Amino acid sequence: MSRNIAAPRGTRDLLPEETSAWSHVESVARDLARRYAFDRIEIPLFERVELFARGLGESSDAVEKEMFRVSGAQGSGEEAAPWALRPEPTAGIVRAFIEHGMHVRPGPLRLTLIGPMFRYDRPQAGRYRQFSQWDVEVIGDAGPAVDAELIELGHRFYAEVGLTDVVARINSIGDAECRPRYRQALVDHFAAHEDRLSLDSRRRLRINPLRVLDDKDLPPELAADAPRGMDHLCDACREHFDAIRALLDVLGVRYELDHRLVRGLDYYTRTAFEFYVAGREGQQQALGGGGRYDGLVELLGGRPAPGIGFGIGLDRTILAMEEQGVAPAPRGELVAVLGMGDDHDRRLQIAGTLRQAGLAVRPDGSSRKLGKQLESASKAGARWAVIIGDGDAMALKDLATGGQRDAVSIEEIAPIVSG
Ligand code: HAM
Repeated sequence: MSRNIAAPRGTRDLLPEETSAWSHVESVARDLARRYAFDRIEIPLFERVELFARGLGESSDAVEKEMFRVSGAQGSGEEAAPWALRPEPTAGIVRAFIEHGMHVRPGPLRLTLIGPMFRYDRPQAGRYRQFSQWDVEVIGDAGPAVDAELIELGHRFYAEVGLTDVVARINSIGDAECRPRYRQALVDHFAAHEDRLSLDSRRRLRINPLRVLDDKDLPPELAADAPRGMDHLCDACREHFDAIRALLDVLGVRYELDHRLVRGLDYYTRTAFEFYVAGREGQQQALGGGGRYDGLVELLGGRPAPGIGFGIGLDRTILAMEEQGVAPAPRGELVAVLGMGDDHDRRLQIAGTLRQAGLAVRPDGSSRKLGKQLESASKAGARWAVIIGDGDAMALKDLATGGQRDAVSIEEIAPIVSG
């Protein structure tokens, strides 16, 4: 006998008992996107490797270690072009913005999408090779008000899905003017202790010294007295960051300053933020993250335009909801329609009427004894059973309490069930 085929490592099937939490979280995201005036955009699941290499940076983990490459048909020319599944959507959205000349539209543009991302990483709890993000991007607004608005939006999302204790960690990593000085300060600090750095960090020290700060193997003493980005900001970046903090205070958003938060993608400038359940800080635990990318549009060939956005990891959000016991029950009120003998025409008609009234209805398709039908309705998670008797008679049974109302009319059922 041949061996069964399993899902690829780092991917998950979402079974029916899990998908209701997903639907709930996605609908909260969609509704917030509507209320915050974001328009939906969709981009391909794969793009040219070059887009990610240029946009996210050759030395980012997403490009250097985790690129999920796809090849087209065997052959040469365009068909053999190197593509990769998108590790994140920001680079693709900016590509679309440039490709469609969207800079001429009345801005700032507020764009959103929900969908799968792919990173060929070593799978572990909360880290998958295919995962989903809710992404929002604002292009054409230099802030700082929009920075605070987005951090507040992320914060509100977690509250609306029912999570408590989610805190935003924020930092400013400066811009083209002040970042070089900060980079140099980091190089000077860490080069003096190079022998205590991991191999990864020694390499990063040369290519992108900021990333040394988010190495989880960095000795705590070296991290503690490392130069802080905030001490190296130019006046314009400092004012920008101070203004965001003042706005977050006014909005009542809980945040903490995190000098080591530098983000893993190279396109960031100035504002960087991540969301965590308090006490669960650490790279693998970020529920979401984002920041400003004022140089990305130009880097990808467009006219200079500032940008900011975030990506919220839906998988990790749902894991946190399960841990906090706030994931919604699999299904709302389900109504089973049961009958006697072969009265399937009546069962389907009544099911149809109740569905038109908005109820979730599952007619029993068997001709088993009523007791058996009731048993399987309960097992299927039905809260109510409509029992069709002779003629027009109908009873409504509450399967949770066992209570029954005889001689109900079809019009009475929906209001009772909807409670
Ligand atoms: P990111 O921090 O790389 O940012 O990812 C955002 C979120 O996606 C993470 O905080 C995490 O919740 C989730 N995530 C990332 N990798 C995985 C994984 N392997 N398995 C499960 N969840 C994961 C970005 O992607 C940026 N594009 C965000 C952004 C938008 N910045 C500006 N605009």
